[in-house]
Amino acid sequence: MKTYLVTGAAGFIGANYIKYLLHRKYANEDIKVIILDALTYAGNLGTIKEDIDGKRCVFVKGDIRDRELVDRLFAENDIDYLVNFAAESHVDRSIEDPQLFLSVNILGTQNLLDAARRAWVTGKDEQGYPVWKTGKRYHQVSTDEVYGSLGTEGYFTEQTPLCPHSPYSASKTSADLFVMAYRDTYHMPVSITRCSNNYGPYHFPEKLIPLIINNILEGKKLPVYGEGLNVRDWLYVEDHCKAIDMVVREGREGEVYNVGGHNEMKNIDIVKLTIRTIHDMMEADKSLRNILKKQEKDSHGDIDISWINEHLITYVPDRLGHDARYAIDPTKIKNELGWYPETMFADGIVKTIRWNLEHQDWIREVTSGDYQKYYDRMY
Ligand code: NAD
Ligand code: DAU
Repeated sequence: MKTYLVTGAAGFIGANYIKYLLHRKYANEDIKVIILDALTYAGNLGTIKEDIDGKRCVFVKGDIRDRELVDRLFAENDIDYLVNFAAESHVDRSIEDPQLFLSVNILGTQNLLDAARRAWVTGKDEQGYPVWKTGKRYHQVSTDEVYGSLGTEGYFTEQTPLCPHSPYSASKTSADLFVMAYRDTYHMPVSITRCSNNYGPYHFPEKLIPLIINNILEGKKLPVYGEGLNVRDWLYVEDHCKAIDMVVREGREGEVYNVGGHNEMKNIDIVKLTIRTIHDMMEADKSLRNILKKQEKDSHGDIDISWINEHLITYVPDRLGHDARYAIDPTKIKNELGWYPETMFADGIVKTIRWNLEHQDWIREVTSGDYQKYYDRMY
């Protein structure tokens, strides 16, 4: 039996990951998943409540910076894999409060590394290096933002120099450097994945795609930073989860793997494509129109694309230090592990919109309270 400690699994990607492990990839295998999550504004127990059964999946509320708690989890469980998703993840919030990002993303990572070191080291070799229990792995979920920004040409490879620009990406880069320092100094069994922008179910609606979907449905403005020309490389979240699983189980120790599906798009194109897709879905299934506010319907009762384009798309001041373009070269993970993206964007965006239409209660739950204050301040 393999035991996972998965941090941050009440958030977007972590929740998709544990669902992938428990119900898809290892549905018929004996695995145990311990979730450690502080339930910040971005973490929602409702997202994973159906998965927590007290046997295959256990939830612990707590902070990755809490040394005593993390040590206790290692003492009480024979943990094989620690997969660290927990982080402050939103670039705009890091511009408002850099110190929180430093604290959670760097100190939190370092605390997890140390706890794993205390639990997994059995002695020293003749050169003084720690000897590690076999089959253990610390995996850091990182981001393409550590590489900084590209011009109109080229891709991020694993050899691209680290050059972060935002407080968020600086904190994720520092965390990666600590992971690599533990590899080099203690020969710790680690791996890192650096993925491009994810989208899909349970995506918190402060991020571009779910924000746009829900603002279209609510008839609110669609804020586009600057001229909308910045490029992001979008990957359906389950393809990211599959990549992490492959790297944790089969990836070479001490290695970094870039993850991305060659799906670069300008932000303004994402916004327009989302509007068009919602329109087409509502044409195909008229019952979906009920969710729209009155003023967005045309004379046939359909969503009115030109009204949305004219009245809702709103160019707002640019994000400070806004990276121009991200684009991942995934050759290494494809060649070494046979990973490839299974969901093309045209299908993924339909699935994502449908998920948002069918989970309006979830949206209402996560956007109430603190998030509403943030939204009002931002827009
Ligand atoms: P998210 O903000 O949706 O979720 C983060 C989770 O971490 C939440 O459940 C939150 O409660 C938890 N958390 C925050 N601080 C914590 C703390 N101190 N202790 C314990 N738990 C804490 O983030 P996400 O989008 O799911 O991203 C997950 C990871 O993947 C992050 O490390 C992020 O840097 C990385 N990543 C994200 C993307 C993306 O497109 N979203 C792409 C590449 C990499
Ligand atoms: O690249 C991976 C990263 O993707 C992850 O490491 C981060 O955790 C994740 O949040 C995401 O960062 P981005 O800043 O790229 O995602 P976001 O959805 O915030 O923004 C995507 C693009 O859309 C970006 O160029 C800014 C722009 N944008 C965003 C918002 C929220 C807008 O134009 N308007 C908006 O309202």
